[in-house]
Amino acid sequence: MTKLKDTAIKAARAAGELILQRLGDVGKIEYKGVFNLVTDVDKAAEKIIIGILHKEFPDDAILAEESGVTDGTGTKRRWLIDPIDGTTNFAHSYPFFCVSIALEEAGQLLLGVVFNPVANELFCAEKGAGAWLNDKPIKVSKVSKLEESLLSTGFHSSSRASEHSNRETFMRITDRTHGVRRDGSAALDMCFVACGRTEGFWERQIALWDIGAGTIIVKEAGGHVTDLSGHDFDLKNLRVNILASNKLVHQQIVGILAETQLAKN
Ligand code: IPD
Ligand code: CA
Repeated sequence: MTKLKDTAIKAARAAGELILQRLGDVGKIEYKGVFNLVTDVDKAAEKIIIGILHKEFPDDAILAEESGVTDGTGTKRRWLIDPIDGTTNFAHSYPFFCVSIALEEAGQLLLGVVFNPVANELFCAEKGAGAWLNDKPIKVSKVSKLEESLLSTGFHSSSRASEHSNRETFMRITDRTHGVRRDGSAALDMCFVACGRTEGFWERQIALWDIGAGTIIVKEAGGHVTDLSGHDFDLKNLRVNILASNKLVHQQIVGILAETQLAKN
């Protein structure tokens, strides 16, 4: 595992260096959907990451946000790559974004690396071994009351139906907590749950590359990650409804979603 982890960290840091150099100098912004942005920095950062991973592990499959699927040959491993999670923030020079890299094998997440180049924070987790922030072990918070919790969420950029449901959930949970942040990077939102800065995060219809690394980092930090009904989700699906928490407030959030059948949307 060490070589896999070291290579993923090397790739995340190399991409992060480029991203930081280009902060404030984004160049042309293209649109993959009405509100779904992509810059040449996303594409260049992804090339750097794939180049580093494929040099060491040429047989592994890849699912990457900008270049899509590359089939593997002879291994069951698959890398889930988001070169910039928080592209909209990056495009506006709002300094909250990261590189997210996860490794999955036969439906199980083995490794997650999330690097925030602005804060120089590197979150990392290995299955069964724990989670770290810049080499220090991290744990989820011990807050057990929802009314004393700080949460975060995100809004899918193209599904109006799921956005509609999320506004309703957002209001309900805001009214019963210290608040809900909407900071624009699901991978960082999940890492904040993992290190105890927040108690929970949820989002509807989010892509695997956004939440692969965050999922294992939260779990290895002692948290819980499920769909919005509290059940496991399948990594075979490209998009999932996700709820990550410190475990202690998990059922309370599931309960609010269940009140109005919102978990189904
Ligand atoms: C987005 C961010 C955002 C979430 C969106 C994602 P991107 O990822 O994670 O927080 O709300 O659903 O698409 O497009 O910046 O990689
Ligand atoms: Ca992205």
